[in-house]
Amino acid sequence: MKARKDIYQIAVLSGDGIGPEIVEQAVRTLKAIETRFGHTFQLNYVDFGAVSIDHNGIPFTDQARNTCLASDAVLLGAIGDPKYDNDPTIKVRPEQGLLQLRKDLGLYSNIRPLKIYDSLKEISPLKMERIENVDIEMYRELTGGIYFGEKSLNEEGTIASDLCTYSVMEIERIAIKAFEAAQKRSKKITLVDKANVLETSRLWRKVVQRLSVNYLDVETKYMFIDNAAMQLIVNPSQFDVILTENLFGDILSDEASVISGSIGLLPSASIGDNHALFEPIHGSYPEAKGKGIANPIATILSVAMMMDYFDLAEEAEVIRVAVEQVVNAKILTPDLNERDCFSTQLVGEIISYLVEDSSLSIECSFEKMRSSLLTII
Ligand code: IPM
Ligand code: MN
Repeated sequence: MKARKDIYQIAVLSGDGIGPEIVEQAVRTLKAIETRFGHTFQLNYVDFGAVSIDHNGIPFTDQARNTCLASDAVLLGAIGDPKYDNDPTIKVRPEQGLLQLRKDLGLYSNIRPLKIYDSLKEISPLKMERIENVDIEMYRELTGGIYFGEKSLNEEGTIASDLCTYSVMEIERIAIKAFEAAQKRSKKITLVDKANVLETSRLWRKVVQRLSVNYLDVETKYMFIDNAAMQLIVNPSQFDVILTENLFGDILSDEASVISGSIGLLPSASIGDNHALFEPIHGSYPEAKGKGIANPIATILSVAMMMDYFDLAEEAEVIRVAVEQVVNAKILTPDLNERDCFSTQLVGEIISYLVEDSSLSIECSFEKMRSSLLTII
């Protein structure tokens, strides 16, 4: 957590696909917070991802890096473009930029909370009774493991390898964060690994077992990744904090997200010792680009996590309450409300009115939105 200040520098990396649209709505929320609480968020926009490859030849330029390093926080939309996905021979890819950014800023701990809204329970792919009391916080290690190990392809192009490496230090620093989080929550932690097969997983277990002695108020459990993938569907409410390595966390968090009804609801914070980045967990959804159908809520909730990081708890709460209000009023994009859906912009606009003035009813914010539409026309 950062010390409070009057002016916050925020690097804004809108990225690709729906990135700019969802970030625009998150920025609207930031502006509403500024108006209501008197902070100043100075936004510094930089190219990132496929857009940056188009403009600069690489996904993450030195200028972008310097802007991020000099900021109090980074707000990221999404990256990725289909033109890179189906051609394995391409050497420069948008995702390399994201990995480089995480590494350069030392963002080793990726926090992905999963919350279920009562009013959305019926659209979860899981039966209602299974998702009662689901409240999970995933701690995914973000700067190590197979994502960052040495990669090789032999000359004939017939044998490839990706090395998975973890050190005690890398495991310890995120495990401590996860234990501390568990202490503030339901005091349960599950380390997800594949310790029956992988040496790295055995090291994770050893380190976590050793640390667990310092957190006797927390119940520590160990689960293999294959079982955890199943348990998330069969009995998700057994989990509180899930601690896991990079690749397992990537896969498990997408799986967990759909329990809520849509991946478009899940925010994330990637935190290191000196820097922090906030982004939705979903991708750039290129098919939806420019259509106004992308869900801005995951990005807006990522702004709430940014407020927590700035030690602005009330601001964070105001955002979460506003989101809950629109969710309950079914003011939602088509991923959550196919028949009577609202656009990305309208959902973002109504949330921003509610953030600016919590005493406003949904009906009034709706009226405000309609009159702003009339003014535009
Ligand atoms: C995520 C994404 C990234 C990851 C991709 C875009 C490199 O899927 O943040 O979960 O695998 O970490
Ligand atoms: Mn992912």
